[in-house]
Amino acid sequence: MAMRMEVDVDALFKAGKILEDALELAWKLLDHGERSGLKIADAVEAHILEHAKPAFPCNVGPDRLAAHFAPTDDRPGSLEGAHLVKIDAGVHVDGWIADAAFTYPFDEEGERLALAAREALLAAAEVIRPGASVADVGKAVSEVAKRHGLKPIVNLGGHEIKQYDLHAGLFVPNVPQGKGTLEEGMIVAVEPFLSTGRGRVEDGSIATIFSLMRPRARGAARQLLDYIRREYRSLPFAEKWVVRRFGSSARLHLYTLVKSGAVYAYPELLEVPGSLVGQFETTFYVDRDGGQPVVDTFKFLAP
Ligand code: CO
Repeated sequence: MAMRMEVDVDALFKAGKILEDALELAWKLLDHGERSGLKIADAVEAHILEHAKPAFPCNVGPDRLAAHFAPTDDRPGSLEGAHLVKIDAGVHVDGWIADAAFTYPFDEEGERLALAAREALLAAAEVIRPGASVADVGKAVSEVAKRHGLKPIVNLGGHEIKQYDLHAGLFVPNVPQGKGTLEEGMIVAVEPFLSTGRGRVEDGSIATIFSLMRPRARGAARQLLDYIRREYRSLPFAEKWVVRRFGSSARLHLYTLVKSGAVYAYPELLEVPGSLVGQFETTFYVDRDGGQPVVDTFKFLAP
């Protein structure tokens, strides 16, 4: 068997602690009535930057917006009138990434989704150990979904993490499908998404999150590309970050880079209109005893 790359466990758990504090800050802001997605994301990212670096932009997902929306100054993402919001953030210390999320409910309908997603993550955590298959994790998630009359989202899921690599190797589904086995020494993010809709997301029309694909460009976009490569490597970054750094011309250069294939644009991911999507997530370090969560997201909404 091939030797697994040595994980810097201290760096990973340090990233986890910083992320846990950042998520707690977001929770408190929501408790105090903050309803600007942008202000919440800015507060989360500012906290992270005090201690480490974001592994990707803070995602803010009200209601049917499942994932991949990072509010911008033009699109602040108001949460007024929403039933729930998902806050999903990441921290890295020397490339060792912690990725975690909670759902904050604004009313009873939202609470149903939030509690079910939290329960699904707990059920998944019970299954995680060396030798467990990813389908076992998906089975645990889908059984909780079924019990609550909800659908697990089939085309979203957790993922293995490696140094500076947010989506490495294994995919961890929310349904009992897929090949792959958890091994000792793996880092894996597990994120049940449960829905009142179809159980499937589709690409929306806007993209606010990007990542480097091929570090090659000519002309005016070259400077931006060099900056992206130095600052973010191939980790996802926010449109907001580069626009605030370079001004609104950065948006044009960004789209030039997307068109040429140098940069990838992540579209927002949406469930069907009228539906609600709940998500809870943490990152596990798999050791011989099971999955050790690097972020305690279970404390949010704890009974
Ligand atoms: Co996440």
